[in-house]
Amino acid sequence: MVEDKRTPTLAEVVELVPEKINGNFKGKDILSMEQFDLASIDRLFKVTREMSETAKNARPPQILSGNTIALVFCEPSSRTRLSFDAATKKLGGQTITFNEDPQQFSPVVDRKVFEAKIQTIEVLCNTIVLRHPEKDSAQKAADVAFHVPVINAGDGGKSHPTQALGDLYTIQEKKGTLSGLKGVLARDLKYSRTVHSLLEGLSLYPNNTIYLLSQEELKLERRYVEKFRNSGLKIIEIEDESNLPKVCDFWYWTRIQRERFEDDQLKDYGKLNDHYIMDADFVKKHGNENLIIMHPLPRIEEIAIDVDKDPRSVYLKNQVRNGMYIRMALLALVLGKIK
Ligand code: NCD
Repeated sequence: MVEDKRTPTLAEVVELVPEKINGNFKGKDILSMEQFDLASIDRLFKVTREMSETAKNARPPQILSGNTIALVFCEPSSRTRLSFDAATKKLGGQTITFNEDPQQFSPVVDRKVFEAKIQTIEVLCNTIVLRHPEKDSAQKAADVAFHVPVINAGDGGKSHPTQALGDLYTIQEKKGTLSGLKGVLARDLKYSRTVHSLLEGLSLYPNNTIYLLSQEELKLERRYVEKFRNSGLKIIEIEDESNLPKVCDFWYWTRIQRERFEDDQLKDYGKLNDHYIMDADFVKKHGNENLIIMHPLPRIEEIAIDVDKDPRSVYLKNQVRNGMYIRMALLALVLGKIK
């Protein structure tokens, strides 16, 4: 068991402020990229590099031996759930899973039932990993799980910090830096939680310029644009692919998050989904040599299969691998197994 998390102050409970990492992961919840500073990310990346070596061992080191990670998934997921599962087992730990209909397990529908279930699950495990379609659900779970860390594996359209950390790690691995970069984030910038968390991470580093390519209906919300601009990120919004920068470090394409549409928006899905389809010709026309091509997956039709074999594509390779290494590192750190 990890040491009990300290009792949250009333202000934290009321305002749902996630605790900063400040270089010390032990016993902390991982809820949002807002908890991270550069030193904490450096620390995490150092452990992640070690984990990329550890993961090659035929016999898992027993770093998480005797530890049970609860995978609580209330929204379809194969990649993230498998990634946490594999990460745990690569370190000799065990997983238990709970897949629940979000209507039966919702802090909005019935907060008391939600809290009681979280408090039951925490007795059975050493860390809770939660994916839920409602924003702030992981924070609400963390507010009542006093004895074990809670890791947010995606809360509605809001955030997905472990994906963003893996994405940042991939950019650093391929480009050698996270500063002074030029990147493109494309398609569903309104509902994509991976985009929100990645922008949060990129805004911590100096001199980054991000082109946001999307249709009007799926633009990044104004409050986010303002927030990231205020943190120093240069944001350029474009609607036409002919305005893509000729020299660019990364492209980050996304699926249209149809499940987050309001009912009256659903009729527009087809029209919105048809836009900015990347195929080999698109890459030839708008890409450059040093680009990397990213996607959090699952990819629907927005990247054609012919791009998969392009050596610049990292979505089916580095991004997936690094996501697991990051989760190995996070689990070992929050459980206090690595100093
Ligand atoms: C993303 C998610 O769940 O937000 N996928 C993932 O974590 N692998 C992106 C998506 O679902 O489109």
